[in-house]
Amino acid sequence: MASEDPSVLIVEDSLSLGAVYRGYLREEPYQVEHVPDGASAMARLQREPPQAMLLDLQLPDMDGMAILRHVHEHRMPIAVVIITGHGSVDKAVDAMRYGAFDFIEKPLNQKRMIITLRNALDRLQMSDLVDRIRDDFQRDHYHGFVGVSLPMQAVYRIIDSAAPSRATVFITGESGTGKEVCAEAIHRQSDRRDAVFVPLNCAAIPRDLMESEIFGHVRGAFTGAVRDRIGAAKLADGGTLFLDEIAEMDLDLQSKLLRFVQTGTYQPVGSTTLERVDVRFICATNRDPLAEVAAGRFREDLFYRLHVIPIHLPALRQRQDDILELANHFLARYAKEEGKELIGFDSEVQSIFLAYEWPGNVRQLQNVIQNVVVLYDGELVTRDMLPPPLNDLEPGAVSKSRRPAPRPRPAAVQSPSDEVAIRPLKDIEKEAIEQAIAYFDDNIPRAAAALGVSPSTIYRKRQTWDAERH
Ligand SMILES: Nc1ncnc2c1ncn2[C@@H]1O[C@H](COP(=O)(O)OP(=O)(O)OP(=O)(O)O)[C@@H](O)[C@H]1O
Ligand SMILES: [Mg+2]
Repeated sequence: MASEDPSVLIVEDSLSLGAVYRGYLREEPYQVEHVPDGASAMARLQREPPQAMLLDLQLPDMDGMAILRHVHEHRMPIAVVIITGHGSVDKAVDAMRYGAFDFIEKPLNQKRMIITLRNALDRLQMSDLVDRIRDDFQRDHYHGFVGVSLPMQAVYRIIDSAAPSRATVFITGESGTGKEVCAEAIHRQSDRRDAVFVPLNCAAIPRDLMESEIFGHVRGAFTGAVRDRIGAAKLADGGTLFLDEIAEMDLDLQSKLLRFVQTGTYQPVGSTTLERVDVRFICATNRDPLAEVAAGRFREDLFYRLHVIPIHLPALRQRQDDILELANHFLARYAKEEGKELIGFDSEVQSIFLAYEWPGNVRQLQNVIQNVVVLYDGELVTRDMLPPPLNDLEPGAVSKSRRPAPRPRPAAVQSPSDEVAIRPLKDIEKEAIEQAIAYFDDNIPRAAAALGVSPSTIYRKRQTWDAERH
């Protein structure tokens, strides 16, 4: 189809030569356009960059090299072929350094021109393909994220696909796994990137001020409201509103938020007029949202309205491939900030890092490295520089410390090894779950982790048992 043919831009000041070159390419499957000066070429690059460009370096209004440099600096995927006057090979060589694919000397020969262009376009396609494959398979960073592990590759891919849409994204993950980094990445990857990203931490703001934080208020709405105030909703108009720690929001306010999410309209506190904004919502929590719903602390209708595209950030211990990568990244960053020489970790420290559980995830790793860099000098980080508990861990023994602290188990947990009782699987499952819950003092997420299931599985099962009892 003609519209899929590669576009070729000829930049040549002589109108007659331009026409001749177009004629040379008439039989080729290209969409060819000719512009006679640098300004029109630049305008065309901004508006609709071609796949290939035949560029004369001598233009009436500017040096063709400036155009090439622009393409190079902006990493525009354009195959540039330079047209040079006879004897100006030096310039052509310079141009190759700025990423030109090839050069052809004047006077141009039709065959040479066709072959050079074809090769240039083929190579462009190849490098495009290589870039795409590299992008797809092993991005070692993505916006604010550092991490090459498979679980993070999956996160990058969900962000890629979710970002262009307006759909609400619901981010979960333990504390310190990068939920805020994720929210910002979505914003920056979306076409709202030039508008504002407004983060609002629902846990940090006192409940009675929260409504005004989101929706703003009018003068006199309450004691102390001496003037109108714009809320986060209005600030984020055209951009992204990030509701962090959403599970901490007051139930009353949750219903107002639900209305806002459903209609895009809200009333500032004390006002009777409806305001309308265009906002993309992202929310995050480190709690298990379904458990919060089950416990009646999170409105179910709001949850389902927000939970359109879920993104779960894996705990650091679940992506071992990232631990040293992140450690090196933070070490380089803090060493530079503090003017220190530290450049790496000795092998003992590396094994400790790999085996440690990292309950505080990336934030904890970041703090550990910062702590070491501030307090110590040298080139390699050694075990004695690590803050507790890391300095006490023997690399080999660390995996044992992953188990919950040993403590006497309730007698019921011990299974009688000398007799085998056959019972329904369902009962055994129930018993195992109840024992785990008791063992972890009713901490369902920990019980779930120990059982290797998600907390929501446990909540669901409990509901079924309750229903069976009634
Ligand atoms: N993959 C990552 N690469 C680089 N830095 C990261 C990454 N993940 C997290 N961080 C850094 O770790 C710190 C914690 O991240 P963030 O605040 O996004 O976590 P969080 O999940 O929101 O935590 P909390 O639940 O405690 O609010 C930040 O300083 C952030 O820049
Ligand atoms: Mg956070």
